[in-house]
Amino acid sequence: MATIAGSEQLVRYNTVARAFHAVIAAMVIFNLLTGIFGDAIEDIWQPFPAHKATGILILLLSLGRLAWRFTWTMPDWPSTMGSLQRKVARLTHGLLYALMLIVPLTGWIFSSAGKYPLSIYGLFDWPKLAVTKGSALAEAAHEGHEVLGFLMAGLVVLHVAAALHHHFVIKDNILRRML
Ligand code: HEM
Ligand code: HEM
Repeated sequence: MATIAGSEQLVRYNTVARAFHAVIAAMVIFNLLTGIFGDAIEDIWQPFPAHKATGILILLLSLGRLAWRFTWTMPDWPSTMGSLQRKVARLTHGLLYALMLIVPLTGWIFSSAGKYPLSIYGLFDWPKLAVTKGSALAEAAHEGHEVLGFLMAGLVVLHVAAALHHHFVIKDNILRRML
């Protein structure tokens, strides 16, 4: 029997999962904005050193988040959620997890071929990979960073729109349990 949306008990994601989600979400949004609008605002502020440092941190935090993810099972979705919706949510989350690793990895690869150091907010230099400027690997990683970066931006917009739709239109607990 279907339950009325919002009437199910609130079972939240665990604290560590919610903390990982909030911190990584803020950093990914920062990196998408600086990546996409970086060239346009260069005269006011050069965002790429912070973009690279934040991207490396996203990679490290996402490895920790994924390792943690294997230790728990998510709270059940409300029974009002149909099977297509569940499939789309599962696919989107899976792709976001993959892109949280692949996008910064491609950035690290092609930036390793550049002349600038990969400075972590001026505190220390992150090691560069052995990638030659103009090599097929550097070119592919650069291309991949751009294409997958835009794919990630699209998925994040979809994901946030879905969260807001659940909260304000369907009025269930989906957003509350991740906050
Ligand atoms: C999740 C993390 C990251 C996201 C979401 C992200 C996203 C993006 C996006 C959307 C662009 C614009 C693509 C374009 O218009 O060409 C971009 C550009 C760039 N990213 Fe990232 N990035 C991430 C991590 C990194 C990392 C770790 C590095 C290097 C260590 C990096 C270095 C760069 C550089 C140098 C550019 C400028 C490329 C150019 O102008 O051709 N990014 N990034
Ligand atoms: C501020 C914007 C965001 C909001 C409001 C938001 C909201 C949510 C909510 C409500 C859930 C739980 C969904 C459910 O239980 O079915 C969730 C899960 C998730 N979010 Fe976000 N999110 C945001 C940004 C992001 C960003 C930027 C990323 C990564 C690129 C991301 C990655 C994920 C992933 C991978 C999950 C699945 C968690 C799991 O079950 O393992 N989110 N998000």
